[in-house]
Amino acid sequence: MVAEIGTDLAKAKQLLESGACIGIPTETVYGLAANALNEEAVSSIFSVKERPAFDPLIVHVASVTELEKHCRFLPQPARKALEAFSPGPLTCILPKADHIPYLVTSGMDSVGLRIPAHPLTLELLNQLNFPLAAPSANPFGYVSPTTAQHVKDQLGERIPYILDGGPCRVGVESTIVDFTGKSPVVLRLGGLSLEDLEEVFGERPEVRVSSSRPTAPGMLETHYSPHAPVVILPVSAGTDLSRAGFLGFGEPPAGVHPANVRRMPVTTSMEEAAQLFFRYLRELDDADLSLIVAEPAPDRGLGRAINDRLMRAAARSTY
Ligand code: TXA
Ligand code: MG
Repeated sequence: MVAEIGTDLAKAKQLLESGACIGIPTETVYGLAANALNEEAVSSIFSVKERPAFDPLIVHVASVTELEKHCRFLPQPARKALEAFSPGPLTCILPKADHIPYLVTSGMDSVGLRIPAHPLTLELLNQLNFPLAAPSANPFGYVSPTTAQHVKDQLGERIPYILDGGPCRVGVESTIVDFTGKSPVVLRLGGLSLEDLEEVFGERPEVRVSSSRPTAPGMLETHYSPHAPVVILPVSAGTDLSRAGFLGFGEPPAGVHPANVRRMPVTTSMEEAAQLFFRYLRELDDADLSLIVAEPAPDRGLGRAINDRLMRAAARSTY
């Protein structure tokens, strides 16, 4: 099997209805989608991705009305956040409705629900009579895909179809907020900034992005890793940079070849940088380098989501 890339919604719909799993675009990253209510379809997501069963999936729906059908109740802060930011890069962790399979939630009584802001996928969801479970469409632990071709490069032999919605506008995964406790807690920094959430909640939400609890979202320490080792600036003196790449904002360290330099713009929201981040990381990883030297982003806006992923990519590094 080699995945076809296309924009045929009828074909995508038919494949999903038959229980297949396919690539779909979202504004954040591409997803590997299947019928969230069909356990066989859901288990094929885990096998295609080689994802451990303890890592729960996000369920995608087209509207707040649909979202409410899949949780037991919608707390006021979640409703406010959804009204402000949906469709958009926000995943709400909510008490799950009984019909959501435990396979989707890794045995938990909560479910991650999100309304993706991509016209093609919203249209697809509107045409389906079930929600879509979809993790990022990359092999477990690797860099997330932001184009249909990225998905094909890695999973193309395991899935029949990738719905092409162009390059992802946001470029990093959704921000995950847990609404099951007394007050909202951010479990993953992502495409919706803390500044934006603060405006809606009236205060900065608590951030609890631990890396050691394997049940926490995308939060295994070595997530988002390219194959080449990643080190964060500064590099130790004497490091051979002749086959190194640079991913950052300012000047690369002396010795890095200009062809292996990827610079992201510094802006107030850091949105432009987030959009480029995974693509650049992938380009450098494809360049057969011995090392990727990365410069942390300013600690604001989507810069925090970039830094979170950089730290995890670097954590694996034995360099
Ligand atoms: O932007 C995104 O969120 C993308 C697109 C495709 O929507 N999806 C995505 O999915 O990033 P994934 O599976 O790569 O990461 C979702 C994370 C998982 O690591 C999982 O642990 C967490 O969400 N998650 C899902 N349900 C959860 C729950 N009930 N409680 C805590 N964390 C949960
Ligand atoms: Mg992922």
